[in-house]
Amino acid sequence: MAERIKVLLSEERVNVRIREIGEQISRDYAGKQVHLVCVLKGGSFFLCELAKRITVPVSLDFMSVSSYGGDTKSSGVVKIVKDLDEPLKDKHVIVVEDIVDSGRTLSYLLEMLRDRGPASLRLCTLLDKPERRVVNVSVDYTGFEIPDQFVVGYGLDYDQRYRNLPYIGVVEFE
Ligand code: IMP
Ligand code: MG
Repeated sequence: MAERIKVLLSEERVNVRIREIGEQISRDYAGKQVHLVCVLKGGSFFLCELAKRITVPVSLDFMSVSSYGGDTKSSGVVKIVKDLDEPLKDKHVIVVEDIVDSGRTLSYLLEMLRDRGPASLRLCTLLDKPERRVVNVSVDYTGFEIPDQFVVGYGLDYDQRYRNLPYIGVVEFE
């Protein structure tokens, strides 16, 4: 199926918003060190930009879970493909995600990470599609709330493509 990408959030808008979130996190965690947990692969572009805008000490770790195939609907099955390298005990953890859609992935993940005993645990997402929520997850930092449309770019893929777009676009199927 052929598809076209229409710009939803320009590179400029995304970067301005990420800078604001970075400033907010720097204020909220003044005097502390934050441990950013990136959910691969989608969260990686956002994590890099965000980390550069945070002025308190930052450490990073990465994990990979899968809930999607080449489809645009969440299967609800969450599998840890790559776990974190380091323990979370007593750390101020912020999970950095590309998007919260049904909330299934995040609700599973947050529960699992909470069991590891972090000093605090928050969720930061670049995009949120509140209309699509099936499982309740509380988001602490949101870049943009967007309508129920399938988006790509800034880490988000359609069948593994378009992650490298420097803006957020909507996929239009022809
Ligand atoms: P959830 O478990 O339904 O919240 O799905 C979360 C995951 O689904 C995200 O981390 C993305 O990988 C993927 N996803 C959800 N919506 C989109 C979208 O619009 N574009 C690309 N990937 C999406
Ligand atoms: Mg993701």
